[in-house]
Amino acid sequence: MPQEQRGVSLDGQGKPLWLSLELTYRCPLKCSWCNNPLDFDDYGSRELSTEEWKQVLREARELGALQLGFTGGEPLLRDDLEELVEYADSIGFYTNLITSGIGLTEERLIALKAAGLKHVQLSVQAIKAEITDALVGARAHALKMEAARLIKKHGFPMVLNMPVFKQNIAMIPEMIEWAADLGIEYIEFANIQYYNWALMNRDELMPTLEQVREAERVVNEWRGKLGKTMTIYFVIPDYYEGRPKACMNGWGAIHLTLAPDGVAMPCQEARVIPGLEFISVREKPLTWLWHESPLFRKYRGLDWLPEPCSSCDEKEKDFGGCRCQALLLTGDANNTDPACSRSPHHHVIEDAVAVTTKSLRFHKPLVKRSANAVSTDFMEY
Ligand code: FES
Repeated sequence: MPQEQRGVSLDGQGKPLWLSLELTYRCPLKCSWCNNPLDFDDYGSRELSTEEWKQVLREARELGALQLGFTGGEPLLRDDLEELVEYADSIGFYTNLITSGIGLTEERLIALKAAGLKHVQLSVQAIKAEITDALVGARAHALKMEAARLIKKHGFPMVLNMPVFKQNIAMIPEMIEWAADLGIEYIEFANIQYYNWALMNRDELMPTLEQVREAERVVNEWRGKLGKTMTIYFVIPDYYEGRPKACMNGWGAIHLTLAPDGVAMPCQEARVIPGLEFISVREKPLTWLWHESPLFRKYRGLDWLPEPCSSCDEKEKDFGGCRCQALLLTGDANNTDPACSRSPHHHVIEDAVAVTTKSLRFHKPLVKRSANAVSTDFMEY
C-alpha cells in the first residue's frame, strides 16, 4: 500500500509521529554493540539544558509528534528526567523511558510515575550475572533484575528488550522462561544492527544463519506455549533476509531524533553520513529542520532512489533500505542498501555472513565502548 494511503506523507508535510530524545550519550555501561557515536564522549558539555529540551518538546508537539522516547546513553543520568517527563506528559505526549535499568531505584520509579511516565523499555542481555556483567563491562546484572521487578511492581506497561548476538542467542529460552515467571507481557528479541560499536565488533557478534533459525524456531515454540500471556517479537536480521529493512519507515517520514546537542536527525545514526549539514535546535526552529532542512529532504520520499530501487516493485515497502548502512558498507549513502540481494554491493553482506561460519578463525576480544577506545580518524571518507 502506498505510504500516502496509510496516512504517512513522504512529501515533507507529514508529521514526525515518533520523537526520540537522546538526552545524553553518557552511560555507566560499556556495551560492544552500542549504537551511540564512537566519539560519544565529546558531547557531554554540549547537552541541551532542561529549558532547551522543553522548547524541543513544545515545538515537536506543534509539529504533531505524539509518541516520545527518552533515551541515550542512559537517560536516568539526567537529573531533570522527572521534570522533562512531567512537562512532556502535560502537553500530551505518550512518554516512554528506554533504559538499561542502572539508576532506576524505587524512589525514582515512583517519582517518574507521579510525573506521568507511561511506559518503560528495559534492556537485559542474559539471566546469569557473570554473563551480563561480562557483556556490559560492569556489575549491572543484579541492578537490571531489580529494575525489572520494580517496573512490574509499580504496574508500568513494559517491554523487555534483549539485544541478540552470537554470545547470547542460545539463551533466548531461559530469558523467556524468566520473563514469564515475572509476568512480563512483551519481549523484544532485537537482532542488533551493525552501526558504530556493533559494526566494529561485527565479526565477533554476528550469529550464523543456523543460530538465527534455531532461535526463531524456539521463539515460535514458546509463542505456542504461552499463548496470549506474552507477545514475543523476533525479526530475522536484514543480513539474512535478502531484503533491506524499511529503516525508520522511510527517511524523514515519521521519525525525528534529537541528539544530546540538539541536532535533529531522521535516525540515530545519520551523523555517520559525510557531506550533510547537521543543525541543532539552538540554531534553527524544529519545524524548519523537519520540513525544510536539506538533511531531512535529502532522502525523503521515493524520487531520489537509485537503480535498482527506482524501478523495483518493492520500493514502497522498504524505501531503498537504510541510508546509514549503505554508507557504512558501500561508502556512499546514495546507494541501495547492500542488504538487498538486488544491490550491486550485496557481496559485502555475503562476505560478512561468510565470516560467521568460519570455524577456525582468530577470535578477537570485543571492543568495549569507552572514551578513546578507538581513533575516529578512519571516519573521514
Ligand atoms: Fe540511519 Fe537507517 S539508521 S537510515
